[in-house]
Amino acid sequence: MTTTESAAATAQHTAVRIDDVTATALPPGPRLPQAIQTLLFGSYRHQWLPRLRRRHGDVFRLRLFPERDVVQLANVEHIRAVFGGPAEVFHAGEGNVILKPAMGRHSVLLTDEEVHLRARKLLMPAFNGASLRGYRDLITELAEAEVDGWRPGPLRSHERMQAVTLEIILRVVFGVAEGPRLDRLRALLRRIVDIGPVDILGWHQPKLQRFGVWKRDAEVRRTADELIYAEIADRRRAGDLADRRDVLSRLLAVGNGADTDGLTDAELRDQLITLLLAGHETTATALAWSLHELARDPRRLADAVRAADDHDEKHLEAVVKEAMRLHPVISEVARVATRDIEIDGYRIPAGHTVMPSITMVQHDPAHHDDPHAFRPERFTGSGPATGTWFPFGGGVRRCLGAGFSLLESAVVLGEVLRRFHLSPDRPRPERAKARNITMVPARGARLVVRPR
Ligand code: HEM
Repeated sequence: MTTTESAAATAQHTAVRIDDVTATALPPGPRLPQAIQTLLFGSYRHQWLPRLRRRHGDVFRLRLFPERDVVQLANVEHIRAVFGGPAEVFHAGEGNVILKPAMGRHSVLLTDEEVHLRARKLLMPAFNGASLRGYRDLITELAEAEVDGWRPGPLRSHERMQAVTLEIILRVVFGVAEGPRLDRLRALLRRIVDIGPVDILGWHQPKLQRFGVWKRDAEVRRTADELIYAEIADRRRAGDLADRRDVLSRLLAVGNGADTDGLTDAELRDQLITLLLAGHETTATALAWSLHELARDPRRLADAVRAADDHDEKHLEAVVKEAMRLHPVISEVARVATRDIEIDGYRIPAGHTVMPSITMVQHDPAHHDDPHAFRPERFTGSGPATGTWFPFGGGVRRCLGAGFSLLESAVVLGEVLRRFHLSPDRPRPERAKARNITMVPARGARLVVRPR
């Protein structure tokens, strides 16, 4: 084979094909029973997936419960092709369908093709640069109020970050003013975001909702919906929509006088719950890992404290970005193939879920020097190469709240570091533990804080 022929063969081999699929072999993968694969994937994917990659290569197949064939991808070229591929071939909404009973059928996260595009187009203005600037003051106020409540001594920082990010969603996204409705919603949403496998079982088995914990869950969701619909109705009647600076008011303003229909009440409810579930635990976890790493690294902590004092948010953002590289909050994203495709010379049959692996790419020494070291300076210059850092996913489905989350994280981090010195509660770092779809610090990112 000549050099040109071998280069062409290599290109063909690494390509992702959606037409003229000729490959017949399925990707390799472990032969373990499906239940064991589900357990290993659910609880130990950080350790297990890199091992499978070493054994089988960049494209390998898992069989997960319930009847799900999953193909993990660890090669940035394949991932780029999947993210840039046609939305009708790679269905992200279908890949997240397990969340439908909570988020609702209109959710931007769960729909595909035209329905998704419409929802995304209507939501997008609420997350552009100008809108984000409008949210800053209230986020700062809420972050200050949170840190005001801290006392010197041990602190479960993940718990505190969950509290402040929930408050930010309630006030800045839902835009609920202080008062009895906010208090009731806060209590109910706290229970809604605390989703475990038992709750998920109840969502998918309506008959269970007549009993015990599932009955209470269903009641909580019903009452929260009533309050959300009441808030939407009040807001539609409000005369000051244009002056209000919260996501819901901006979403309501989209249909006003524009050449497009706005969102219906049912759509708004579904999108608000989606923003809550997509944006709360994720941002809280990214912040908890940031604090956890800073507390263990006096030099990086000193740099970050200086940045906080100088209001250098770019540096604080770099801290969070690096924390998300080292500890991806979500370890992979999903696309269901709607027709047979070919990746790396393997056939991926229609109905298989393709999963670009954030963790395997972000921990790959080929892309990040010393990948298990925490170094925010990776992000202070031009940053890592394209496609080697994607904690927010990619393509037309990239996280809508990425900018919101980075702004929120930099503001919260700044408030914490200007007021408190951080140290670890014990020398050994915390390991990552799977909690629903996120990977969280196993002991709650415990710290010791003292006023500066
Ligand atoms: C550290 C924080 C966050 C992380 C790591 C994160 C991560 C992700 C990921 C991986 C996806 C899927 C992307 C894909 O399939 O390619 C996603 C989607 C989404 N996220 Fe986030 N997210 C974060 C914060 C937020 C926040 C704060 C909000 C809103 C307030 C939000 C709203 C959404 C929405 C609406 C989608 C669906 C986008 C679509 O399907 O078109 N996220 N996020």
